[in-house]
Amino acid sequence: MSNRYAIILAAGQGTRMKSKLYKVLHPVCGKPMVQHVIDQVNQLQIEDIVTVIGHGAEKVQEQLGDSCKYALQEQQLGTAHAVMQAESVLSAKSGTTLVICGDTPLIKAETMKELIALHEQSQAKATILTAYADNPAGYGRVLRGEGGLVEKIVEHKDASEEERYVKEINTGTYCFDNQALFSALQKVSNENVQGEYYLPDVIEILKEEGEVVTAFQSSEFEETLGVNDRVALSQAEQILRKRINEKHMRNGVTIIDPLTTFIEADVQIGQDTVINPGSFIKGKSIIGQDCLIGPNTEISNCEIGDGTEVLQSVVHESSIGSFVKIGPFAHVRPQSDIKDSVKIGNFVEIKKTVFGKGSKASHLSYIGDAEVGENVNIGCGSITVNYDGKNKYLTKIEDNVFIGCNSNLVAPVTVGEGAYVAAGSTITQDVPQQALSVARARQVNKEDYVKNLKFNK
Ligand code: UD1
Ligand code: MG
Repeated sequence: MSNRYAIILAAGQGTRMKSKLYKVLHPVCGKPMVQHVIDQVNQLQIEDIVTVIGHGAEKVQEQLGDSCKYALQEQQLGTAHAVMQAESVLSAKSGTTLVICGDTPLIKAETMKELIALHEQSQAKATILTAYADNPAGYGRVLRGEGGLVEKIVEHKDASEEERYVKEINTGTYCFDNQALFSALQKVSNENVQGEYYLPDVIEILKEEGEVVTAFQSSEFEETLGVNDRVALSQAEQILRKRINEKHMRNGVTIIDPLTTFIEADVQIGQDTVINPGSFIKGKSIIGQDCLIGPNTEISNCEIGDGTEVLQSVVHESSIGSFVKIGPFAHVRPQSDIKDSVKIGNFVEIKKTVFGKGSKASHLSYIGDAEVGENVNIGCGSITVNYDGKNKYLTKIEDNVFIGCNSNLVAPVTVGEGAYVAAGSTITQDVPQQALSVARARQVNKEDYVKNLKFNK
């Protein structure tokens, strides 16, 4: 096996996206396109990955971090010019170089491996990944000559009417002999409709020099989709969504309606979990086994244990234990830590709160900036009054506390272990352990008051 390198082209603005966001940073199933490409390339044994950046360089670098090296393309003069920017890092090396566009987020590592294998077996100087497109408009066309051998690639805008009938397209992914690539790049001109230095022209140059150029036909056009505008972006989203849902189903997750289930690329889900329609599971969420999620639920960046139910609810950036019941219609906001066997019922909002094992807030409560112990019962309509208009304060509710309905706990305040708070109380001072605290006006009954009202006489 020769040394392997990869160049990812990500310097373009993406004019056709008509967006403030640089094209390769547009997410597909929650992850920027270029990150999808890097994640796949990272599954291969590659010595150096060089990402060519230009438009939005800082943002792209921020996204990819130190997962690759970078080459800056100050002016975007075309894909050949982009590859040329990796010269200082790679040109002295020998081996195989994989070149991929940062706007083809669906290409799988498996296909890249097959492409590299074919390239190395056939000892070619260049191997193009091609595909058949029902509608090839916009793509470079692969022109084959005698015996079906690849001759050159012609860009859509430069193609004759006859050439535009060709349905075999250049996917923008190639393998090159590294030395041959950098020497052929010197000869690419920009005499074409767009006035750009086209990378695909390297094919014709190598061919004319008598070098072996081959093509590897991908069996699936969908995988090679290039995203140049928002229509293609939505197509990529759909294709990847289907792929992600199928992966989970094959791993033993039941998805009742894949068409209305949106699971982002990096989500993990355990066996025998059931996902009901209208569910969005995002970011780096990890969901355990035997859970019931949805319908109409949004979960992002959460870790959820086994056997937990999240029904018709929104849960963000939190840790949720096992055998927890959330919803229907609950909202768990970031930095919450919900332990095992907790119940967060309907119309309950939780924020930045540790909720101890076996505790319950079953109806209509707001619990924010709080530490709730184990086996606590928070009655309907209870509220932690955590904000004075300027600062936020902590409410501590120790183990085995019972908070009566419609209580206000004005923070900072502690309700001691085992204490009771009477319904309707507004607690402004700490409640000692095992105490009953009643903090409300006493009831006064005025006998016959109504009967004696003037207008009742
Ligand atoms: C390119 C190919 C086309 C192929 C298609 C597959 C060329 C000339 N054409 O066309 O044959 O069918 O991809 O999707 O290569 N980029 C830079 N610097 C530049 C120009 C582009 O880094 O100066 C990057 C872009 O950020 C993008 C990638 O290269 O990620 C491809 O550029 P794009 O403009 O999308 O090329 P296509 O028109 O799609
Ligand atoms: Mg493109």
